[in-house]
Amino acid sequence: MYSFKSDYSEGAHPAILGALAATNLEQAEGYGEDDYSRQAAALIKRQVGNPRAAVHLFAGGTQTNLTALAAFLRPHEAVIAPATGHILVHETGAIEATGHKILSVEVSDGKINAAHIQAVFDAHTDEHMVKPKLVYISDPTEIGSIYTLAELRQMSLLCRAKNLYLYIDGARLGSALCSDENDLRLADLGELADAFYIGGTKNGALLGEALVICNDALKADFRFHMKQKGALLAKGKLLGIQFRELFQNGLYFELAAHANAMAGLLKKAISDAGFRFLTHSPTNQIFPILPNRLIERLQEKYSFYVWAKVDADHSAVRLVTSWATEEAAVAAFIKDLHTCIGAK
Ligand SMILES: Cc1ncc(COP(=O)(O)O)c(C=O)c1O
Repeated sequence: MYSFKSDYSEGAHPAILGALAATNLEQAEGYGEDDYSRQAAALIKRQVGNPRAAVHLFAGGTQTNLTALAAFLRPHEAVIAPATGHILVHETGAIEATGHKILSVEVSDGKINAAHIQAVFDAHTDEHMVKPKLVYISDPTEIGSIYTLAELRQMSLLCRAKNLYLYIDGARLGSALCSDENDLRLADLGELADAFYIGGTKNGALLGEALVICNDALKADFRFHMKQKGALLAKGKLLGIQFRELFQNGLYFELAAHANAMAGLLKKAISDAGFRFLTHSPTNQIFPILPNRLIERLQEKYSFYVWAKVDADHSAVRLVTSWATEEAAVAAFIKDLHTCIGAK
């Protein structure tokens, strides 16, 4: 059984394991105050083009989102997010559990825009309602679409005009930045977002996410917030080593580009076979709409999520490729797809 379920099915890239092994017996300061974590932060700040940014390393995505959003918001303040957003659908109410309402916006392509934000803002008029204060988006979105520089710029302008923070969940940021259709650079995020994170777990790290706080007003006492949320890792050096490895020679981008290329091969073959897709995704998650009978046949050899029922006979599935997906596995899937179609 080969899995196209996620981009965290495998362990870590060998270069990362090698770096962890090579530094294993070195003694280091705890809680992220080691040299590796400092070097990783410096490399990230250079890429982001903002030497004043604060970089904090976390173990996982939900932990990053809930620690950051709870730290950034006052008790009555709320988050605006697309209805499909990860914090709304797949984080067990972690943000709401910190006391902040999430105001959801219905979207068709996973993306919210300046008009959506304006509408939510206008609908919250006084102290009898929560006060929208932070816009949450992810790039790529939950359904694989990506934001353009123009879209992000427009949102950022509006957020600044309305005194809202713009926060970008980058669990799969590498895939977005390395997409053929992308025109955003890390430096643009550094300029346009108040805070964002760079996901390592889904891009070759054993685990880890790097939160970058760009807005000075959000930096104070952040390590206190991390500790209180159980997010300050005693062996923080393990995160520093991994992010240093990912960013010192461009490995981060190489791995994401590979995952995208493998998804691109799947997408082309599925499209050439005559199937449509639930959404336009130029990243490492694709959502082909397939006949249920074909899905059942493919599931005999491959595991993947059935994402949404489309009609009585068809469903959209989610196929995810990773930094480690082998081209041979993709070729085998395509061959099996053709065999199953021929045998129907
Ligand atoms: C966009 C996004 N944000 C956050 C997360 C949460 O990450 P974790 O499972 O590490 O908490 C995920 C995981 O799938 C994700 O896709």
